[in-house]
Amino acid sequence: MLVHPTPEAGPRAPSLPAGGDGMEDAPVKTIRLATPADAAPIAGIYAPIVAGTPISFELEAPTAREMARRIAAVLAFAPWLVCVEDGAVTGYAYAGRHHERAAYRWSVDLSVYVREGGRRTGVGTALYRALLALLRLQRFRAAHAGITLPNAASVGFHEALGFRPVGVFPRVGWKGGAWYDVGYWQLELGDRTGVPSEPLGMEALRRLPGVAAALAGA
Ligand SMILES: CC(C)(COP(=O)(O)OP(=O)(O)OC[C@H]1O[C@@H](n2cnc3c(N)ncnc32)[C@H](O)[C@@H]1OP(=O)(O)O)[C@@H](O)C(=O)NCCC(=O)NCCS
Repeated sequence: MLVHPTPEAGPRAPSLPAGGDGMEDAPVKTIRLATPADAAPIAGIYAPIVAGTPISFELEAPTAREMARRIAAVLAFAPWLVCVEDGAVTGYAYAGRHHERAAYRWSVDLSVYVREGGRRTGVGTALYRALLALLRLQRFRAAHAGITLPNAASVGFHEALGFRPVGVFPRVGWKGGAWYDVGYWQLELGDRTGVPSEPLGMEALRRLPGVAAALAGA
């Protein structure tokens, strides 16, 4: 396993080369926690999604500076991961609160974006495998994806990872001259039949001995 330390994560920063998928000639995929230096490439991946699609309901692509602020805000709560191939950020994924109210605190919403030209090569899967493992260590119990419909790639991707549809908000967003439905997909991360133990914060997560193993998919 490759280990790429990051300023946030310290010397045992998790990283994960994707492998064993028969793609021997493909560049190694290293998954690590995002840093402020990733803000510009992340903003570059996200900008065409905002400008040209209803996948994101934002209307103005955020600047690198704004993206750095968002990365820091997320990392105070949950992982923001990037995939690096040949030294370049090729995708990213992160978790945010599903809702603010206290009873929702075991539920997270996920976001994932892979650069145009780099899709369907396992980047999203490598990112989610690591992200879901970390979220389980943090004791979150349910992960959600809100998907503007139609989006066959995102639906196929989330269902391939075990997410199941739980409902649709009809015509809930207006962008580019059209109304869009948003469907929600859910993945159970942990038992939801008894009293849940409190989720862990990022500082506690970083101290867990199982972080590197979880990232490696063990
Ligand atoms: C959705 C997205 C993140 C998937 O990432 P990815 O790296 O391309 O996905 P992977 O290569 O890991 O694919 C894993 C599996 O997901 C499913 N999948 C991925 N792309 C798919 C597509 N276009 N159509 C149908 N299923 C698809 C397949 O089951 C695939 O396995 P396979 O290639 O062995 O058949 C990527 O398409 C993307 O960035 N799309 C634009 C942004 C977006 O829609 N983000 C989600 C917002 S809700």
